[in-house]
Amino acid sequence: MTTIAPPQIRTICCIGAGYVGGPTMAVIADRCPDIQVLVVDMNTTRIAAWNDDDLAKLPVYEPGLDAVVGRCRGRNLHFSTEVDAAIAAADMVFIAVNTPTKTRGIGAGQASDLRWVEACARQVAKAAVGHTIVVEKSTLPVRTAEAVKAILEAAEDTDTTRSFSVLSNPEFLAEGTAIRDLENPDRVLIGGESTTAIHALAGVYGQWVPPEKILRTNLWSSELSKLTANAFLAQRISSINSIAALCEATEADVEEVARAIGSDSRLGPKFLKAGPGFGGSCFQKDILNLVYLCRHFGLPQVADYWESVVALNTWHQHRIAALVVQKLFGTVTGKRIAILGFAFKADTNDTRESPAIRVCRDLLEEGAILAIHDPKVDPDQIALDLGQPVGESWLHCDAVADAVTGADAAVILTEWQSYSELCWDALAPLMRQPAWVFDARAITDSLAVCLAGLNHWRVGCGMV
Ligand code: NAD
Ligand code: UGA
Repeated sequence: MTTIAPPQIRTICCIGAGYVGGPTMAVIADRCPDIQVLVVDMNTTRIAAWNDDDLAKLPVYEPGLDAVVGRCRGRNLHFSTEVDAAIAAADMVFIAVNTPTKTRGIGAGQASDLRWVEACARQVAKAAVGHTIVVEKSTLPVRTAEAVKAILEAAEDTDTTRSFSVLSNPEFLAEGTAIRDLENPDRVLIGGESTTAIHALAGVYGQWVPPEKILRTNLWSSELSKLTANAFLAQRISSINSIAALCEATEADVEEVARAIGSDSRLGPKFLKAGPGFGGSCFQKDILNLVYLCRHFGLPQVADYWESVVALNTWHQHRIAALVVQKLFGTVTGKRIAILGFAFKADTNDTRESPAIRVCRDLLEEGAILAIHDPKVDPDQIALDLGQPVGESWLHCDAVADAVTGADAAVILTEWQSYSELCWDALAPLMRQPAWVFDARAITDSLAVCLAGLNHWRVGCGMV
């Protein structure tokens, strides 16, 4: 790579206007008013939604995002489908495209599908002008930068007016708290070979992130740290969910156990909430990618270790569906069951790998009729996730009261604040008795539910 001093960053292009590209670039634009930020995507519908005058129609739901976009859009934040033009105008190009698990060919079911990342590298190689810093923002297998660099170096060889530096700058935001995480990150990680390029990117973040929170590493440590962070987080959830199952068998209470172990400063209290298993677009895909890499590098024992985190999660989700069937006298055929929450966590409209999908599919397989409520998820998305249109086997309800009417059970799968405030005294008479509340998020008051005349199950609670 040629080491030409990069220009001061005046224009940034981000390829990929998804859950990461959109919010991240909105915050950069907000905090760096002197930088023009061009967010591009090949998905015209998504770009149209980002440009919608009605900020309630942004394609990503994140608390606070509408305000940030409202402040910057049209000023120094622009959304378009003109990918080549944006690359040509930019001093720095972020690649924030999807990196899902491969579904076919070598590594299917585990390795990351890098076709979109490679397409971006080729498009940058074709359209960039002058010196361009290319930033890997997507989560990538360790050593992906090698391929990105190879593609860009070939472009340098054919046109010496152009040069590139490659950086890894993984994103650690969590959905639902994306704006808070971006505005006040625990750390920003920048990996690279060129200190000038690292300095340029650190300068962008430095406009609002304290210098001690900007970590600099080599490329490979940065790429691997992202996969490792997600693997450790997911491992904690599988650990607490495994203990939740044991609590249920032993009259222990996982909330009490979590508080007891989380008080140890070496463990800490966060990420110890038992639930219906982890969902979201990344934990499973990133661990499976780690598993694939470990096998590739001849470390089968390490691969098996991490694979068990995903296996426990899958088992736990099936376990919850099976438990509902068992408590409802061993059969749910023809019974109406209210599903409260379809998003993979609260404060997002994202359903990717949501635990609700597996639980609902299992209950549908048993013949249940599901009445599904979620304050943010579009019913069309639920139909896609369940692989069947709204109709006979499941219906969509705009109100919780509608969902529970005539139901034998309400199953809480997302921890929406509004579900913790439900008045079970008012809902119980609408249900067919004897009725159950299955609280897979531990957000209901057990006493209030029982006083309303309902049976109550809470994840990880063995007390009767
Ligand atoms: P996403 O699917 O929401 O968005 C990706 C976007 O990239 C899509 O809109 C797609 O149309 C666009 N795209 C793909 N190839 C393109 C191309 N060649 N040209 C133009 N546009 C293109 O994905 P996401 O959730 O934003 O995740 C992006 C990356 O960030 C992934 O690697 C993911 O693992 C990582 N990540 C995600 C999160 C999260 O919370 N979702 C957090 C941290 C990291
Ligand atoms: C996660 C990580 O937290 C982010 O740091 C990372 O950037 C991101 O993945 C990514 O790479 O995509 P996210 O999946 O958006 O973020 O949300 P989390 O808050 O981590 O929750 C993931 C899943 O675990 C959810 O289904 C959530 O309900 C579940 N969870 C989380 C629990 O069951 N218990 C907990 O204590 C915490």
